[in-house]
Amino acid sequence: MTASRPNQAAPDPHDDVALRVEHLSKVFGRRPKEALARIAAGASRDEAAKLGTAAVVDASFDVRRGEIFVVMGLSGSGKSTLIRMLNGLLEPTEGTVDVGGERVTGVDAKRLRGVRRSQVSMVFQHFALLPHRTVLENVAYGLEIQGVGRERRQQLARDVIRRVGLEAWETRMPSELSGGMQQRVGIARALCADTPVLLMDEAFSALDPLIRREMQEQLVELQAELGKTIVFITHDLNEAMFLGDRIAVMRDGRIVQIGSPEEILTDPANDYVAQFVQDVDRARVLTAASVMEPPAAAVPITVGPRGALKALRDAQTSTLLVTGPGRTVLGAVRDRDVMRAVQAGERELRPLVDAGVQQVDPDTSLAELPELAITSGLPLAVVGDGGRLLGVIPRVMLLAALGNVPTDTSELQVVDLPPALDARLLTQTLDATPEVHDAR
Ligand SMILES: Nc1ncnc2c1ncn2[C@@H]1O[C@H](COP(=O)(O)OP(=O)(O)O)[C@@H](O)[C@H]1O
Ligand SMILES: [Mg+2]
Repeated sequence: MTASRPNQAAPDPHDDVALRVEHLSKVFGRRPKEALARIAAGASRDEAAKLGTAAVVDASFDVRRGEIFVVMGLSGSGKSTLIRMLNGLLEPTEGTVDVGGERVTGVDAKRLRGVRRSQVSMVFQHFALLPHRTVLENVAYGLEIQGVGRERRQQLARDVIRRVGLEAWETRMPSELSGGMQQRVGIARALCADTPVLLMDEAFSALDPLIRREMQEQLVELQAELGKTIVFITHDLNEAMFLGDRIAVMRDGRIVQIGSPEEILTDPANDYVAQFVQDVDRARVLTAASVMEPPAAAVPITVGPRGALKALRDAQTSTLLVTGPGRTVLGAVRDRDVMRAVQAGERELRPLVDAGVQQVDPDTSLAELPELAITSGLPLAVVGDGGRLLGVIPRVMLLAALGNVPTDTSELQVVDLPPALDARLLTQTLDATPEVHDAR
């Protein structure tokens, strides 16, 4: 959607960076520079408090093009101050911000207006819709200010109104809309500005949970469709986990960790992040790939019953995945069937194979795992391109994902245990579970 730049030389190595923040700090108060110098020399925020309130201290990060970058932290941690420096609403005490390669900090008002027009727009938690204008006029308002002609701006506004699902409401007044719909008008207004970067400060925090979830899903869809770069502020961990490609965790003005939702969840940088993370619904965030194990308990079908029995013993498990050409998953065999076949002197494994093994993509979240996989008594196969076996998800992990066993952090470590120990856990879990398959 961005106009192509003529006469552009070799691709810029920073071309995938939409927004760059370097050593950004903001102190409110009488002697901001002095306060920062104290903090840089090791003073705490409280110790520097008489000189000023250090709202943001030495924040540095890049936001990649097309990324949803979430800034998460408790109230008062400096999130709003940070985001307001990203579009020049606040001038930092120190540090720089570049958006789309254009400097935002330390520039004059005219340059700043240019950047806002072409690069970055913002959605606030409580933004005022103009009460005496229709939905359409509200959405087109930004374009009106920019001097875009009536017909053109209405055409653009209609397009984004359709995208946020409000086409039937164009001629209504804001007071006729629910809170959730008003919030969509706000998002439509920001989308209408057609800037590559969208800043959203607690944009969904005032909405009730159901509408909020719907808005989150819609935002992810819009992002995928329009390829916007989004910086999204929230104090809600679940929201951060759902939306974020990456999450920056803020505490007392500092960014204490930046990582993918999984990294934040499984490897919190410090106690603060760990505390924050404790209540999240893990199953929604952990993917099959992050909990799968190397497929030790898998054999090619050509090994026959004897080979299968040996592998069952080695892996200390009661079921074994069986693979065909290209390591595709054919199914699984159970120890008692294999034992019987070996005793009977049978040569073929194929008749023993139960094809009911569920296969999932590595990106599947644990919450989405098929129910059957959990009740079937068979391991779950994680497969990549062409159905190639990548790993196995032990049942103990599946049960944890369903909340049947405690999922505190120590339990999560199950994935890091040595394979043998895991296999024992797996066997115990299997033994303790009634086998629904026999009922068929
Ligand atoms: N305009 C201001 N003047 C003085 N202090 C401010 C101002 N804005 C924010 N603060 C202080 O900066 C800190 C961070 O606030 P804020 O960025 O609003 O945090 P958050 O958005 O994470 O709740 C708080 O201690 C707040 O009181
Ligand atoms: Mg705030």
